Amino acid sequence: MKRLATVAPAVCVLSATGCGGWQSALDPQSRGAAEIANLWWIMFWTTGVLATLVIAGLLFAVYRARRAATADAGGTVQDRERRFIFLAGAAVPALLLVSFVALSVRTGASVSEPPGDPGLRVEVTGHMFWWEIHYPGYGVTTANELHIPAGIPIEVRVTSADVIHSFWVPQLAPGKVDMIPGRTNRIWIMADEPGRYRGQCTEFCGVQHALMSLLVVASPEEEFQAWLAERAVPEAGSDPLSLRGREIFGEAGCAACHGIRGVTVPEFSGSPGPDLTHLAGRETLGALTVENSRENLTAWILNPHHFKPGVRMPPTSLDGDDVSALVHYLESLR
Ligand code: CUA
Repeated sequence: MKRLATVAPAVCVLSATGCGGWQSALDPQSRGAAEIANLWWIMFWTTGVLATLVIAGLLFAVYRARRAATADAGGTVQDRERRFIFLAGAAVPALLLVSFVALSVRTGASVSEPPGDPGLRVEVTGHMFWWEIHYPGYGVTTANELHIPAGIPIEVRVTSADVIHSFWVPQLAPGKVDMIPGRTNRIWIMADEPGRYRGQCTEFCGVQHALMSLLVVASPEEEFQAWLAERAVPEAGSDPLSLRGREIFGEAGCAACHGIRGVTVPEFSGSPGPDLTHLAGRETLGALTVENSRENLTAWILNPHHFKPGVRMPPTSLDGDDVSALVHYLESLR
């Protein structure tokens, strides 16, 4: 009992820490996400009160049964008790469940369409274990960082290149949507305010499912347009070391899986690795696994499994100079 008294508050505190922050469905930042959060709170409070009543009733029943045993009262079920069992055990729960279903269906219908015409369409493809992001009409492809304008509904079309994944940005999206190979699903997201939000794959897709995260950056419209315009004109270093790095990129086999716009398209179909055209502009490596720094990029190329065991990229056996040249080149890609 003593141990329970110590453990129970710790468990409560730990589970409550999951309720805040930039990936919390309970801190919605758009109308769609807010409706989902409201539904959650209605269900939470209703079932919370109900659970309390049931436990209180149970304790009362135990107490009464003990007293009845000592007084040796008769054990027959009265009509009053039958009525209570019918009402509390069947009628009220049935009514509540039907209400919950009706409320869920109404919320689902209300959030299925955006509040206005989508200002932008993006295509997101799930891969083991990263996100390919494409802006149709702009010729911009990137990975793991979804940039959107704030205050405008965005249509997100999702599919998968391998297994089933699921797209979820708790603060911005009205729920989750499965990413299924050979099929395109739709969801809309919106950020009321500019900010940074976190998304997560929510369908178990393999060993690194947990490290398949997404950064969503919502900026004011002009800032977003500037970002998009910059991405439309890829930049790469042209100094001798960068050119050497570019050669190594081809020789070492990187180009088999990674595309760099204007330089190489992946040899294997379905681009098994993220497009690297704007790699230096990204904040993280490995879908939010580590910060995109020179040391981490070098270590990642040598052995990505150190950061993300089971990732599909194989380790390389390049020597120190070659890796430096390669990293120098990759760090010039904007
Ligand atoms: Cu992708 Cu789980």
